[in-house]
Amino acid sequence: PKVVVLKGGPSAEREVSLSSGRECAAALREEGFEVVELDAGPDLAARLGEISPDVVFNALHGRWGEDGCVQGLLEWLRIPYTHSGVLASALAMDKEKTKAAYVAAGLPVALSLLAHKSDIRAAHPMAPPYVVKPYNEGSSVGVYIVPEGANSPPQIADNMPETLMVEQFIPGRELTVSVLGDRALAVTEIMTSGWYDYAAKYNPGGSTHVCPAEIPSEIEAACLDFALRAHAALGCRGLSRTDFRWDADKGLAGLILLETNTQPGMTPTSLSPEHAQACGYSFGAFCRWLVEDASC
Ligand code: DAL
Ligand code: MG
Repeated sequence: PKVVVLKGGPSAEREVSLSSGRECAAALREEGFEVVELDAGPDLAARLGEISPDVVFNALHGRWGEDGCVQGLLEWLRIPYTHSGVLASALAMDKEKTKAAYVAAGLPVALSLLAHKSDIRAAHPMAPPYVVKPYNEGSSVGVYIVPEGANSPPQIADNMPETLMVEQFIPGRELTVSVLGDRALAVTEIMTSGWYDYAAKYNPGGSTHVCPAEIPSEIEAACLDFALRAHAALGCRGLSRTDFRWDADKGLAGLILLETNTQPGMTPTSLSPEHAQACGYSFGAFCRWLVEDASC
């Protein structure tokens, strides 16, 4: 079969996607697929018409590629594609809407609100510590952490969106789980010297991943269960990765879901390929699984 690997695109995570796409395309070629790599631009529909692939492997991240837009185009063109469909992608890209779906499914979240940029600049929108972030970006692009005891609110940059999400900062440990089909693969703990920002995510050695995480079995079981329930609550297909924070001092009550990524990174430093490997999938077999799961 002929597979188009969609990568790049115009989002803030363009570079991450170029890396994910490169890795997946190479692995799929090794698996014997005919692969065309396509940098997703304004001519995407025309290019897909010319190439006429059997399957699109979506390696895009962020807006337009992870939020239901490209999924809608592929539905329209009747081309089977990997990962989640339109609605799950749109829901999961919006961190506030995601929380509403989590809460409806009985999953634990941190207190949050949406606030206008100018209001945040003028006064603390909630008692510190808290985090300010775009509600529809990934890879920690544009995240402000306001520590406990901070006197003044963050001076949000002019290029940030007008409306931002403000979320209570949960101290503690960073955990993440990938779901593949109907199976939660493994829990990873991410260790960083500072916080898990863009540099720590993508610079080799920027963070250390412990998989399986060295956590009590009760917390591990809860993470796996919550990730599966998040995947189902959002209506995800194929692969998703749900990110958690865990305040160990509070036991199970200290575990909250941050978000679910419907197009998790597939770069050399990304987490989902490690989860797949922990369950016996080579990277090639993992990518093949996604292609075979594609639909529209
Ligand atoms: N947003 C990046 C690609 C991730 O979740 O892995
Ligand atoms: Mg994300």
